[in-house]
Amino acid sequence: MMLAILCVFVLFSTAYSNEETKKCEEVNVYDKPHQKHVLSMGLNRPYQLAFDKHQHRTFFSHNVGLDNEDSFEIAYVEKGEMIPKVVHDVKNGFAIAIDNKDGIIYYGGSEGIKKEHLKEKNATIHEVLKNHNVWDMFYKHALYFITYPSQHLYKLLPKNEVEHQKHIHEEIYQFVIDGHNDIFITNKTGLFLIKNGTDERIHYKGPKIFRAIEVNNEGKAHFCGKNGIYTANKADHTLVMIAEIKHIFGITFDSNDNIIYSDPHEIVKLVPGTCEK
Ligand SMILES: *[C@@H]1O[C@H](CO)[C@@H](O)[C@H](O)[C@H]1NC(C)=O
Ligand SMILES: *[C@@H]1O[C@H](CO)[C@@H](O)[C@H](O)[C@H]1NC(C)=O
Ligand SMILES: *[C@@H]1O[C@H](CO)[C@@H](O)[C@H](O)[C@H]1NC(C)=O
Repeated sequence: MMLAILCVFVLFSTAYSNEETKKCEEVNVYDKPHQKHVLSMGLNRPYQLAFDKHQHRTFFSHNVGLDNEDSFEIAYVEKGEMIPKVVHDVKNGFAIAIDNKDGIIYYGGSEGIKKEHLKEKNATIHEVLKNHNVWDMFYKHALYFITYPSQHLYKLLPKNEVEHQKHIHEEIYQFVIDGHNDIFITNKTGLFLIKNGTDERIHYKGPKIFRAIEVNNEGKAHFCGKNGIYTANKADHTLVMIAEIKHIFGITFDSNDNIIYSDPHEIVKLVPGTCEK
């Protein structure tokens, strides 16, 4: 059923090289060497990463279906533990958003949205919304979510009411609001900036397909294209590659703004430093 979601990203190849030995590897971020710290491995396409600053957990959605069937489950890895734990009770859990300020995590799946408090261990999962198939979510002062297959944007209001965001008339894949209250959206054509208070769509040339877009703790938007991680240069509306990494599926940031990304099988944190012997 959710196969169509993955077809959107069919231009990506999912080549995988199996690493037997755990040797130190380096990646440059902003031309500075970073070490790859593997947080979890052996996963099947971990998407939609989100970092819980309260309990230092990295959440993700991954594919648990058989080869010809896509079904998703939300899981997380705790600090220092490679083996993921499953979040039960979220049917086809695909989307995750965290409000770290208030300590709330939102889980989106094929039957709606649920939430859980991050400050309590073993907190109860509460239903927020039913009858929505959720494709992607973003949190800034409120929860925004994109439904499937309409690809419309909605905002969750107090008392769990839902407001269609009609000013975003496009059928979108992703939506973020950055630290300047500017909006980035992606659709079939590519990436567009909508500056705060304006309607104009400013097209960003370059990569057209993004598996993940996230805003770091400073409010800077990061875009994961086919060949790497980009940030936006708003002066000339171009994308700047800050790290060359192929086959990225998801991105998030820890409390220190270290990049955490996933590829088809692993979740990796990039920590400043070299691999000296
Ligand atoms: C959380 O729940 C699990 C399973 O029910 C239990 O084993 C564990 O002790 C609980 N942890 C806390 C902190 O209550
Ligand atoms: C994507 O959005 C842009 C900006 O509104 C629009 O010009 C373009 O036609 C849209 N692409 C598709 C395929 O709808
Ligand atoms: C523009 O930013 C201000 C805060 O700087 C915010 O109050 C306002 O809601 C924003 N407008 C839009 C359209 O997002």
